Amino acid sequence: MSDTPILSIEHVGVRFGGLVAIADLHFDVHAGEIVSLIGPNGAGKTTAFNVMTGFLKPSQGQVRFRGTSLQGLQPHEIVRLGLGRTFQRTSVFPDDTVFDNVMIGLHRQGRARVLDTLLGRDRAGEARLRERARDLLDWVGLSGRAGEKAGALAYGEQRLVGVALALATEPAMLLLDEPVSGMNASETQVFVRLIRSIRERGITLLLVEHDMPMVMEVSDRIVVLNYGRLIAEGPPAAIRADPAVIEAYLGHSSAALHQDGAGRTAATETIDA
Ligand SMILES: Nc1ncnc2c1ncn2[C@@H]1O[C@H](COP(=O)(O)OP(=O)(O)OP(=O)(O)O)[C@@H](O)[C@H]1O
Ligand SMILES: [Mg+2]
Repeated sequence: MSDTPILSIEHVGVRFGGLVAIADLHFDVHAGEIVSLIGPNGAGKTTAFNVMTGFLKPSQGQVRFRGTSLQGLQPHEIVRLGLGRTFQRTSVFPDDTVFDNVMIGLHRQGRARVLDTLLGRDRAGEARLRERARDLLDWVGLSGRAGEKAGALAYGEQRLVGVALALATEPAMLLLDEPVSGMNASETQVFVRLIRSIRERGITLLLVEHDMPMVMEVSDRIVVLNYGRLIAEGPPAAIRADPAVIEAYLGHSSAALHQDGAGRTAATETIDA
């Protein structure tokens, strides 16, 4: 882990009219880390992601990625710098195969001479692209489903198509927006392994996620937002026992913070800090 952060959120504030969605948000992510951004509904997590990826201009502060200010950059320019993301909403073409969905995504990313490839003039390019699509499907564990219609996949599996396309942009860092929502426990475990394999290939990860057992299991560090403010930052064990965090989740879903991996609520709460 290097000392210079790969991503720095520098005193970012976002207002929507009179509503302060984020206030003075400040944290770093270091290369090689898996960090989760958590907090109750409406805490400002998605807003923070939208600022990092250029979909929203902050009212205050800025984001730096690999030392470069992202101020004024368009989403596609940020992707080109190596900051990739997945979207909360899955958008596959349901009537096309899983393989074709990835091919369409690769074409859209402009890594091929589209017309030449479509007209069959660039057979070598097309072959390379098909190989790339196969590699990506293999990485996310969808090889066995490549020939099926994407619409036939379970919701959780459709999200893997989105992850494959985000990986296709060859990011140095990947932002995942609620990647396991809608997945069952075993699908989530498979996804945890995928997250680890992504990190093993040198990609830094920042997740927004409500699945607390998963967050606690996979994260090196957790950043907690409440009403747009950073209320805690630290390793999972410290976050789980942090009185401010427990307080923030009370009245929302305090049980969620204390579930074990099997989704059972712990009999004794760990409020011992
Ligand atoms: N485009 C917008 N215009 C006005 N208010 C917005 C807009 N986007 C978000 N907000 C408000 O900003 C606050 C933070 O919203 P945000 O979506 O970032 O929360 P979140 O932490 O992602 O919540 P959840 O866990 O429910 O997804 C909320 O009060 C929300 O209603
Ligand atoms: Mg959100």
